[in-house]
Amino acid sequence: MTGDKWVRQTHRWLSIFFTVTVLVALVAVLQEEPPEWVFYLPLLPLVLQMFTGLFLFVSPYVARRRRVQRTAREA
Ligand code: HEM
Repeated sequence: MTGDKWVRQTHRWLSIFFTVTVLVALVAVLQEEPPEWVFYLPLLPLVLQMFTGLFLFVSPYVARRRRVQRTAREA
C-alpha cells in the first residue's frame, strides 16, 4: 500500500471510531452524573482525523508539484 492509500484507509476507519465515541457521549449525556472524561473521548480520533485529513488534502497538490518539476527537468 502506498503512503496515500494507507493514510486514506486510516482516515476512513477513524471516522467509524470517531462516530462510535460520539454515540457513547450521546448515551452518556442521558445518564445521571455522567463521567466528564466521556465527553473528551471523541477528541482523540478527531485530532487524528484532522492530521490524516490535512495530509489527504495537501497530497494531490504535492503530487502535482512533483510532476511539474519532473516534467520541467526532463524537458
Ligand atoms: C478533522 C478534520 C478533517 C479533515 C481536515 C478532513 C479532510 C478530508 C480530506 C481532504 C479527504 C479526502 C477528500 C478527497 O478524496 O479528495 C477526506 C475524506 C474522508 N473523510 Fe475526512 N476530514 C476530517 C474529518 C473527518 C471526520 C470527522 C469524518 C467522519 C466522521 C471524516 C470522514 C471522511 C471519509 C469517510 C472520507 C473518505 C475516505 C475514503 O476516500 O475512503 N473526515 N477527509
